[in-house]
Amino acid sequence: MILLGIETSCDETAAALVADDRRVLAEAVLSQLAEHRPYGGVVPEIAARSHLDHLDSLIRRVMAEAGLGFGDLAGIAATGGPGLIGGVMVGVMTGKAIAAVAGKPFIAVNHLEGHALTARFTHDLAFPFLLLLVSGGHCQLLLVEGVGRHRRLGTTIDDAAGEAFDKAAKMLGLGYPGGPALERAAAGGDPARIPLPRPMLGRPGADFSFSGLKTALRQRLAEAKERGEAGGDVSADLAASFQAAVIDCLADRTAHGIAMAKALAPVTALVVAGGVAANTRLRARLAEVAQAGGLPLVAPPVKYCTDNAAMIAWAGIERLRLGLTDGLDFAPRPRWPLDPTAKPGARA
Ligand code: KG4
Ligand code: ZN
Repeated sequence: MILLGIETSCDETAAALVADDRRVLAEAVLSQLAEHRPYGGVVPEIAARSHLDHLDSLIRRVMAEAGLGFGDLAGIAATGGPGLIGGVMVGVMTGKAIAAVAGKPFIAVNHLEGHALTARFTHDLAFPFLLLLVSGGHCQLLLVEGVGRHRRLGTTIDDAAGEAFDKAAKMLGLGYPGGPALERAAAGGDPARIPLPRPMLGRPGADFSFSGLKTALRQRLAEAKERGEAGGDVSADLAASFQAAVIDCLADRTAHGIAMAKALAPVTALVVAGGVAANTRLRARLAEVAQAGGLPLVAPPVKYCTDNAAMIAWAGIERLRLGLTDGLDFAPRPRWPLDPTAKPGARA
């Protein structure tokens, strides 16, 4: 069983062909970074137009690479939300058109479920497991119990972790996207030099907050400038101190999440996904947290942690196996919480 997956919810246009034995037959990801860089963030209208310009040729490319026609597919899965509505519409319309023409089932995949099920595709992981999803748009701890069965144990009450990295990097003049730039700058800095708060640390539950940390960084930066010592060493120390604070918060909240998850279900692992999972220090720290909680850490390769279409195809396979398909009247959902019983959160 082979599915075509389509991802267009943010600033990556992606198409992939995945088989139900977890093989990727072909995949293509086109990043729009260069198009958004002049604006220091993703511009929704530019993103939507760029998806429209490139998606057809990406699909043509993966089909040709795998030597397949649409008739060979068991179905077409496209991200149906949550995300930037213009982009989601492009992917959903394209997916539906192929499904209609080829007479194949269409599956609208929740982008977050794509991330949530990635570890099953990369590591054949059994349910239930705990997922820390940390990206530019999301910061959540989810108990993944099954396909379509997710319990949100924690979420951010303000910024997402990647967003915090991006905003901090912008303040420090490190460029966009901020996470990788900040990690590079931090490598030469002293993480203990600049005192910064650890919002939510030790609090009950597993919610996150990063906005106070961002404000504190702005103050420390202003103080450094007043002393005439901004730039150079201080920049590296600010970056290192900020990264250490974010990681301390993520580690503490995840430790709480592990305890909460274990009280609810016999979890098999701690999984980390999302662009921030590319951070080397975070991965190392999460390995310690998982071990302390008696769980293995499963960290999919970075290319499947960030937005990609293989995870959408895989989630489509899992849904199709259970007979879960969508009609051609499916309407894109800019907001689509994985756990409808959880109260709405800022970046939920
Ligand atoms: O999952 P992703 O590619 O896109 C979505 O947000 O959906 O995640 C991108 C986010 C950005 O905020 C970026 O700054 C952050 O992940 N990021 C990192 C690192 N690499 C990417 N944050 C910290 N350290 C990194 N090495
Ligand atoms: Zn994502």
